[in-house]
Amino acid sequence: MEGTSHAPNPTRIPGLNSCPSERDEAEHGSTDFLESTIETIAPDLWLTYDGVGLGPLRADLAETYWRWENSLPVMAGYARQTPESLTERSAGLEARLEGSADQTRFTIYRHHDDTWAPVGMTSLLIDDRYRTGEFFIYIGEPDNRGHGTGTIATTMVLDWAFHVTALRCVYLEVLANNAAAIHAYEKAGFRTVGTRRRTGSRLSQPASEVIMDAIPEEYTGPRLVEAAVLGNRQSLR
Ligand SMILES: CC(C)(COP(=O)(O)OP(=O)(O)OC[C@H]1O[C@@H](n2cnc3c(N)ncnc32)[C@H](O)[C@@H]1OP(=O)(O)O)[C@@H](O)C(=O)NCCC(=O)NCCS
Repeated sequence: MEGTSHAPNPTRIPGLNSCPSERDEAEHGSTDFLESTIETIAPDLWLTYDGVGLGPLRADLAETYWRWENSLPVMAGYARQTPESLTERSAGLEARLEGSADQTRFTIYRHHDDTWAPVGMTSLLIDDRYRTGEFFIYIGEPDNRGHGTGTIATTMVLDWAFHVTALRCVYLEVLANNAAAIHAYEKAGFRTVGTRRRTGSRLSQPASEVIMDAIPEEYTGPRLVEAAVLGNRQSLR
């Protein structure tokens, strides 16, 4: 297992859709090859651990985030009933890229074949008055769900929330029948503190929502932030 801040070299990331550019047409003739590969600038990774990385949001991934968020599993996970247009999503992303003190958003990466492929997104929405943050996550690439990425990314965000952002509590709400999400959150260190009855819906049926939280005093995950700041590996154990 390994954890550190990391900046890999420029590379091709397989398995993502992209819009072929005129330059691609000129250089390569047909752009069919881009259906299964995307040329991308190297991602900046703030933290990596056990094959999972967290980096900033990226303007060049606007269409990818939009595609992920409007896929049915992610819409169902958040009980969303209407898809968002690409125009609306791009405008929202522009505002988020500007950044602000009340939000921290990460692109989630998975390490495959010597490259870091973006696979999802996770966010902390911060309430500065009480030093709390609401947590959100999705793994957008379906093949990457169910392989531990969500659990590790959630742990890394808690490490960041407690040791970079100095939050006193991180909380979330999840549909009670989203068993995979609840399992991942528990493994990462969240615990259930309550239930709101019939406040959500899943596959058109009313569903309760479980409220979970995590506090720094109970954090037992790897101390990646400390290791990156102090340059030691003891914190990772
Ligand atoms: C929820 C989500 C982020 C979890 O990420 P992930 O990478 O798939 O999760 P992980 O593989 O780390 O962990 C899932 C765990 O749940 C388990 N699991 C999967 N389906 C399950 C089920 N039906 N019942 C119980 N456990 C289940 C898996 O076996 C795994 O546990 P294990 O590692 O002990 O085997 C991801 O599935 C996702 O993006 N879903 C769609 C969007 C969503 O629902 N977001 C959350 C909204 S609150």
